[in-house]
Amino acid sequence: MSVHQSTHLKRITTHILQEMKKRKEKISMLTAYDFSMAGIVDGAGIDMILVGDSASNVMAGHETTLPITLDQMIYHATAVVRAVERALVVVDIPFGSYQGNSSEALRSAIRIMKESGAHAVKVEGGAEIKESVVRILSAGVPVMGHLGLTPQSIYKFGTYTVRAREKEEAGKLLEDAKILEECGCFALVLEKIPAKLAKKVAELVTIPVIGIGAGPDVDGQVLVLHDMLGITQEFQPRFLRQYADIRSTMHEAVSNYIKDVKAKDFPNEKESY
Ligand code: KIV
Repeated sequence: MSVHQSTHLKRITTHILQEMKKRKEKISMLTAYDFSMAGIVDGAGIDMILVGDSASNVMAGHETTLPITLDQMIYHATAVVRAVERALVVVDIPFGSYQGNSSEALRSAIRIMKESGAHAVKVEGGAEIKESVVRILSAGVPVMGHLGLTPQSIYKFGTYTVRAREKEEAGKLLEDAKILEECGCFALVLEKIPAKLAKKVAELVTIPVIGIGAGPDVDGQVLVLHDMLGITQEFQPRFLRQYADIRSTMHEAVSNYIKDVKAKDFPNEKESY
């Protein structure tokens, strides 16, 4: 008896993503960090779910992505994987869990895959983390790269402004994209770079390029779920399209609940035993 696939849904694989790029079908990706949200996002038909280290900001309230730990990422990823039937689940390896040396990188990637059941990992950087990327890939773990604005290096950049506007940085980014492709990465995220440069990268490499603040001429788009739902309203970059105002909806619902409790209107007779 086959135990490979228990549902009627066709799971998205790295091979399917590659085919989508070939036939110019755009790839959709969103973050999720918990079971309930992941179930909604997957049910709506998203292609990839990123258990991003943006959980550090969105879920834990930290200012940067640096404090989140490997154990915490595995906790979030495990909850997401439990809910997902179709999407490919990618998990960020957090800051400090792969940059030191390639053995540590491999150990972190294996822990994520083994303990959470996720399908791939994501790392930030190019040439400087090549050895770690190769080592993770050698264990059969799919790796997604991340170039441009890489939030784990925020203290090096000092700002969250658009990256690679200058020729030199743009040239390095193109080289890094090629290096990551040659290493065997299955896809790349490009964050907050000029649209023209992102288009060049998407044409240069044969692997899918997923943009966030990288314009329309890439192979797919990713957003942070809580930003596009209007939950984190203080974050309003130009690249963000807000698809709902969930914060206001929740505020109103909670206010109404409080009002009903105070007025002794909730629970009523029908809501009691
Ligand atoms: O952690 C994250 O959410 C990300 C996206 C911004 C791509 O890396």
